[in-house]
Amino acid sequence: MTDLEQETLEQNWDSYTSEQHAIWRTLFHRQEAVLARRACKPFLDGLKDLGVAADGIPDFRRLNDALDRATRWRIVAVPGLVDDDVFFAHLAHRRFPSTCFIRRPEQLDYLQEPDIFHDIFGHVPMLMNPVFADYMEAYGKGGLKALRLHNLEHLARLYWYTVEFGLIATPEGIRIYGSGIVSSKGESIYCLEHPKPHRIAFDLLRVMRTRYRIDDYQESYFVIDSFEQLFDATQPDFTPHYAALATLGDLNPGDVLPSDRLLERNSA
Ligand code: PHE
Ligand code: CO
Repeated sequence: MTDLEQETLEQNWDSYTSEQHAIWRTLFHRQEAVLARRACKPFLDGLKDLGVAADGIPDFRRLNDALDRATRWRIVAVPGLVDDDVFFAHLAHRRFPSTCFIRRPEQLDYLQEPDIFHDIFGHVPMLMNPVFADYMEAYGKGGLKALRLHNLEHLARLYWYTVEFGLIATPEGIRIYGSGIVSSKGESIYCLEHPKPHRIAFDLLRVMRTRYRIDDYQESYFVIDSFEQLFDATQPDFTPHYAALATLGDLNPGDVLPSDRLLERNSA
């Protein structure tokens, strides 16, 4: 058995209880309402095209049929935390590692670790988008390289501020694509409408310099203009960026620089 195979398992879809399916439905319908005018179109389209998700915890075998047809990605079940090298290798091969457990009823609003609602509802709709799907594969390859170059911290910030907490500018206003936001009711509203957080135009090095917090809503969000912009900005070899970052130094999550282009919040 290879290292990779040891890390994956079966979802055992038949073993979910009706109470667990009900938790999924509650979360799903709540987020569907919150996200209608807050999530970006590719996310909402992806969710619709997956066609799985409203009835209860989705069966990965059915999700994988739709995903494979759209972008040749697939979901693999993992037991929670996997090592960085395994995580990046999955992405590099267009496999998205997902947990299988669902939060308990008293954890509807907040949970420290990712569960199946975050991993599937949050991440998989964007993997239906061809440009974003390619970005995620490139990120996995970049992760393996960052490991070799001992620069994981910088690259992890890019994942955090794009894949997990990214915003995108559209003619209708700022919209959400980050998985950590779309799977949270409170942060879906906060990130767009609250006066406190900074909404800063995306800049690759700026993002990689910026520390993040894992225990509260973000103090800064980075806003891309398009998924093509994100893909193009991350194509060049990061080796010179890593060298530059060593001298640039880190920024705190709430810092604002004179060179930052700040965007207006959406009106509620
Ligand atoms: N171009 C990056 C590198 O050379 C790889 C990468 C692509 C990283 C896309 C993140 C996202 O390391
Ligand atoms: Co996530």
